[in-house]
Amino acid sequence: MYKLFSKIKKFLYKYILNYLKYEFTEFIPNSESKEHQKNELIKTNIKSYTSSMLNISQWFYNQDVTYLSNLNVDENVTTSLHNMFENHGSDKNKHGYDILYSYVFSKISNNPTILEIGIGTNNKQIASNMGKYGKPGASLRAFSQYFATSEIYGADVDKNILFNFKNIKTFYLNQNDIDTFNNKLIENKKFDLIIDDGLHMQSANLNTLRFSLDRLNQKGALVIEDIPLSALDTWKIVATLLAKPFDLEIVQCMDNFAVILNKN
Ligand SMILES: C[S@@+](CC[C@H](N)C(=O)[O-])C[C@H]1O[C@@H](n2cnc3c(N)ncnc32)[C@H](O)[C@@H]1O
Repeated sequence: MYKLFSKIKKFLYKYILNYLKYEFTEFIPNSESKEHQKNELIKTNIKSYTSSMLNISQWFYNQDVTYLSNLNVDENVTTSLHNMFENHGSDKNKHGYDILYSYVFSKISNNPTILEIGIGTNNKQIASNMGKYGKPGASLRAFSQYFATSEIYGADVDKNILFNFKNIKTFYLNQNDIDTFNNKLIENKKFDLIIDDGLHMQSANLNTLRFSLDRLNQKGALVIEDIPLSALDTWKIVATLLAKPFDLEIVQCMDNFAVILNKN
């Protein structure tokens, strides 16, 4: 009877009164407080956590932001990439990523093994979908045209859009579950370029970064696309955590930011 009563109470607190202590255990204050106070304190704790961490990290190191227009790029590479993204139906040009990848390609191997997370789905039930008119696989096909002899891998949470074509192979991966990164298809493989164009949220991006620390070749790069201003603090903090052979660049693109993790 007592067990049933506490189960009902927990259900009420968690789902009806939305007490946050059940979801955000690491943010519960370790101080005596009433339940409704606890909720407010948990919110304060979550809201100020990242900005406080940034503040502390900036005491040691202040990460610069570079403008897209200041990147040293080969105009011919930018133009070919622009045309390929456009012809295959990727929206990468609209963010200025034709310029960004022109810069990245100048730093990595000229026959790179590539992994891109986020193939592109039209399924509106899936977060970060391309909408009705997007072309699944667009950027992979553009990279395949540019690097015709490279090994190119794509990964996505939507199993219905997986495909193989020429030098492209794809597999299922859920960025929220780090165990799914190590798919059999890429077991023990190292990459010259890893691209995160998937879910576009910090915890998912951080899983990609954790994977990349292990799986980048020397002179390799991880590019994290579509970072909004509201998420930038996380990347400034990450920049202070890195040590040799890794470093990080933050690039302000047309309508958002991109992070490049280099393995030197
Ligand atoms: C913007 S689309 C990628 C577009 C493609 N890279 C291009 O430029 O042509 C983002 C993709 O991320 C995928 N995605 C969403 N959540 C994901 C997750 N948790 N793990 C992996 N992929 C995810 C979506 O299914 C979608 O296909």
